[in-house]
Order: sequence, then structure tokens, then C-alpha cells
Amino acid sequence: MSKIKNVEQVLPAVRALLAKELINNHNVSKADVSRILGISPAAVTQYTKNKRGSYADELGKNKEVLPVIASLAEHFANKKKKEGEMRRNMTIIETSENIISIINNQGIKDKRKLDPKTKILQDRVEAELREARTSLNMANNIEDGFGKLLFKGLASDSIRHAEIVSQVIRDQETVGSFKLDRKLKKYLKQMIEEEENASEQSMTKLVKTSHPAVRALLQSVDQDEMKHKKMLKSLSKYLDS
Ligand SMILES: [Fe+2]
Ligand SMILES: [Fe+2]
Repeated sequence: MSKIKNVEQVLPAVRALLAKELINNHNVSKADVSRILGISPAAVTQYTKNKRGSYADELGKNKEVLPVIASLAEHFANKKKKEGEMRRNMTIIETSENIISIINNQGIKDKRKLDPKTKILQDRVEAELREARTSLNMANNIEDGFGKLLFKGLASDSIRHAEIVSQVIRDQETVGSFKLDRKLKKYLKQMIEEEENASEQSMTKLVKTSHPAVRALLQSVDQDEMKHKKMLKSLSKYLDS
């Protein structure tokens, strides 16, 4: 599968697969599919016709992508009345972005040719992507809005981790020898300031709640901010020395 750069490249295929899944496996009418996906009935008809060799076909055969589509279809089939059009569109776009990460991380097929260390790294990429798929599926099945958000967060973290490790595998040259990007230093200073202004208030201190998922989410916001500052400062210190 070729490299995908932006979400527009996969959106039609994701919509097509969702339309098929909703009609074939959830008995949703074409009119409802048109409403759920925010596309015209004519487009639904076009999407559900099997055009051989289309990108949707290729994507639909991808074993890692299929469960993601299936769980999103299930989500829409069950809760189509609860979500507004904007939220539904966002969900489709977010899922498409996750699908892009999954596809782009499926690069290495023949692991026997890898050296031991790269193999460990590649195994880690796959483990992270598995985790991402599992938590995405769970997120789509959870009714609780904050619980959903928590599991979606886990999925994006795992995808992020997979992205980092696969870039380490792909870009061995840069890992081995470092050349300073001048913009990095300038942007770092600016970013540290912005982070400090934005995160003056601790969310866990500000919002009192007994909901465990809300609490965990707010905690993660505070921890992320600490992590951001720590990461930026240690990088900046290194560049100053
Ligand atoms: Fe991870
Ligand atoms: Fe931040």
C-alpha cells in the first residue's frame, strides 16, 4: 500500500467502506447512511457499487484497517441519533487520520532481513498499533463520553509512539549524526513561553470531580503540560551548551 500524506486521500474510501458496512452488516437504509455520513444519496449508491480496483477495495482488504471501520460503523449504527453532524464528521476525520498512521506504519513486511535491534523496534511499532486498534474499538463501544475520550487518547498516544519508533527505524542517518536546525532553537524559546502561559492553572486543582475518567483525563492534561515543559527545556538546554 502506497504512502498517504493527507486525510483527503483516504476520506472517500473510508466513507465508501463505512457506507457498505452500514448497509450490509447493520441493515441501515441508504437514506440513513446518506444522513449519517453527510453525503448525497447518489454518492451512497456510488460508494456501495463495487468498483474493482478502487482504493476503497484495497483499503477494505487491509487486515489492520478493517476492524477500525467495522467498529466505527457499529458506533454510527447504534448511536446515530445522539451525535450531531459536526461531531460525526469529526469522528470520521479522526478515524481516517488514525487509519493513515496505521497504513503508513505497515512498511516493513519481511522481518527476517532485519538486524536484531531493528526487529525489536519494529515489534514495538506493531505492538503500539495493536494497542491503538484495541483502544479505538473500545472507545467506539463505550457510551460514557469521558470514558470514550480516555480510550481515544490512549489510541492517539499509541499511534504517536508507533510514529516515533518507525521514524527512528526509517531515518537511521539522522539518529546517528545530528545537524542543528537553526529554527529549532528559536521556536523552542517561543514554545516554552506559550506553554508556560497556557498551563499556569492546574486542571486537577481547578475542576473538582468524582468521575474517575474525568479525573484521569484532567490529570493527564496536567502531566502532559509538565512533560511538554520538561521536554522543551531539556532540548533547549542541550542546544545552549
Ligand atoms: Fe506506547
Ligand atoms: Fe502544552
